Amino acid sequence: MTAAAFGGHISVLKDPATQALVGDRNGMYIDATYGRGGHSANILAQLDKGASLLAIDRDVDAVADASARFADEPRFRIAHGNYSQIAELAGDWRGQVAGVLFDLGVSSPQLDQAQRGFSFDRDGPLDMRMDVTSGQPLSAWLATVDVQTLTDVFRDYGEERYAKRIARRVVEHVASAPLTGTLELAEIIKAAHPRWEKHKHPATRCFQAMRIYINGELDHLQTALEAAVGLLRPGARIVVISFHSLEDRIVKRFFRAESSAPELPRGLPVQQQDLPCRLKLVGKAAKPDQAEVGVNPRARSSIMRVAEKL
Ligand SMILES: C[S@@+](CC[C@H](N)C(=O)[O-])C[C@H]1O[C@@H](n2cnc3c(N)ncnc32)[C@H](O)[C@@H]1O
Repeated sequence: MTAAAFGGHISVLKDPATQALVGDRNGMYIDATYGRGGHSANILAQLDKGASLLAIDRDVDAVADASARFADEPRFRIAHGNYSQIAELAGDWRGQVAGVLFDLGVSSPQLDQAQRGFSFDRDGPLDMRMDVTSGQPLSAWLATVDVQTLTDVFRDYGEERYAKRIARRVVEHVASAPLTGTLELAEIIKAAHPRWEKHKHPATRCFQAMRIYINGELDHLQTALEAAVGLLRPGARIVVISFHSLEDRIVKRFFRAESSAPELPRGLPVQQQDLPCRLKLVGKAAKPDQAEVGVNPRARSSIMRVAEKL
């Protein structure tokens, strides 16, 4: 495992994910989250001449990176878009794809570039959109949000215990003066937070929650998983790397539902075992080893799940 950071992003579980994904060296593959292309490059290195790799990212900076980096790679193409539209972006690949990889969440450049507005320790505009060409920036949403909605977002997407009191403080502040940037927002959250967790900025959970909300992350994931299964051919793999429990829960439930037939009431002419499943689980959920976490602390919370199309 190498820890090389391409374009400022160190890929997580790069070798295990590639190994789990690639079964046919001349197959058609999709990297649904290009980022800075660490996984794409690793996948291409395992593929022969007859293979193709479609990469997707909703971030125009990622797309520009891919266009430059793989300009001379005939097996590769990049599409700007949301992975919830994976079926449309894959065009006529339906039923033929040999593997799809999702490496969820944000890339390090998105987090580290203050002007993207994701950071609570570097000042930037209140944006947080992965795709700056669509949707509303955080500032527009915060200007109109009510206490209950903000509380729900902090609680549901950040699992923040003090959601209500923090939301009240933020909404009160916005009513008195517009927010100037991410640092000011982080300070308001910090001041309203009664109990700080060790080694964690008190705004971590709320910032994660707002990011998930602004980008519709969980809804897109659910849609994308369903669409991706329809693209796969029998024996193909779907590999998902998640970074927090909300994402992982969606993946785990989806894989479980697709790999086990629903329970039926007794007395029906059809038996549970007669119902077809679309996926089978491959191995157990995998986590990075100590060595990987040592060089890339961001990998700490990652978990990889793999399933195979039946
Ligand atoms: C963790 S990074 C991927 C890193 C990449 N595997 C690498 O090795 O460089 C996640 C990427 O997924 C993109 N992304 C997140 N949600 C997306 C969505 N719904 N549709 C398309 N891209 C998305 C982000 O813009 C980000 O660039």
